[in-house]
Amino acid sequence: MGRMGRLQSKIALVTGGASGIGAACARAFVREGAEVLVTDVQDEAGAALLAELGEAASYRHLDVTRREDWDAAVAMVRERHGRLHVLVHNAGGGAAVDIERVTLEQWRGVQALNVESVLLGTQAALPLMRACGEPGSIVVMSSVAGLIGEPGLVAYGAAKAAVRMMAKSIALHCARKGDRIRCNSIHPSFTDTPLVRSLAGQSKDPDKALQRLAQAAPVGRLAEPEEVAALVLYLASDESAFVTGTELVIDGGLTAT
Ligand SMILES: NC(=O)c1ccc[n+]([C@@H]2O[C@H](COP(=O)([O-])OP(=O)(O)OC[C@H]3O[C@@H](n4cnc5c(N)ncnc54)[C@H](O)[C@@H]3O)[C@@H](O)[C@H]2O)c1
Repeated sequence: MGRMGRLQSKIALVTGGASGIGAACARAFVREGAEVLVTDVQDEAGAALLAELGEAASYRHLDVTRREDWDAAVAMVRERHGRLHVLVHNAGGGAAVDIERVTLEQWRGVQALNVESVLLGTQAALPLMRACGEPGSIVVMSSVAGLIGEPGLVAYGAAKAAVRMMAKSIALHCARKGDRIRCNSIHPSFTDTPLVRSLAGQSKDPDKALQRLAQAAPVGRLAEPEEVAALVLYLASDESAFVTGTELVIDGGLTAT
């Protein structure tokens, strides 16, 4: 007999799961006994991760800004498993741009990816999560950029602040309905993922830029994707059964200053 995992018998869907924090979540979920639908728009990276994760995982293309993609992914989960317990709204990102330079098109793109995705995905998944009558958890990947201001992140910061409040509204809605479905947001500071590496790569001296990003946190380093995934795992599991409508900050002390 193997040990019981912390997500034993749970079905999970992770967006942006082919890279960075999302991939770390998929690995942690499978390790803890869940069956995981990894979704992303990077299909090759998704297939590579699948080869590593084995039978407990499957992959599907899901552009989180498209309602048709959400409907198809949830239909796939319904057909295969008939149940869904955990939804991780992880896909996100956005241009580093200030209020004077941001274009309306950039603004809308960032809101679509980070905010509308939570709307579309929650609307698509909630009926299946509710129908199974078992405890459920929706995790929204926000950022410290949704808690504190940053001049060069006007669109991204606004989007990450918006989803913080969406998580609370969804949590209260589900509590009122008596659903046993919880919803919370997570707020990491700079984490060592392809997103942050490409951000640093845009500057003249990428190593120095990465060092600067690491120094942004009082502890003087980047977060590891596995450290953020550990919080997602906690929220996904029944260990956090009384935790809903709140935000968990993982930032090496950044917002304590
Ligand atoms: N890395 C950090 O420093 C940091 C800090 C705070 C919050 N976050 C948030 O964590 C989440 C994951 O970021 P990451 O650092 O792992 O980035 P990442 O770029 O490594 O991974 C993001 C994934 O999302 C996918 N994606 C992009 N657009 C998509 C779309 N329209 N539909 C579906 N998938 C899409 C990408 O293909 C990629 O695989 C994001 O929401 C990000 O804003 C990251």
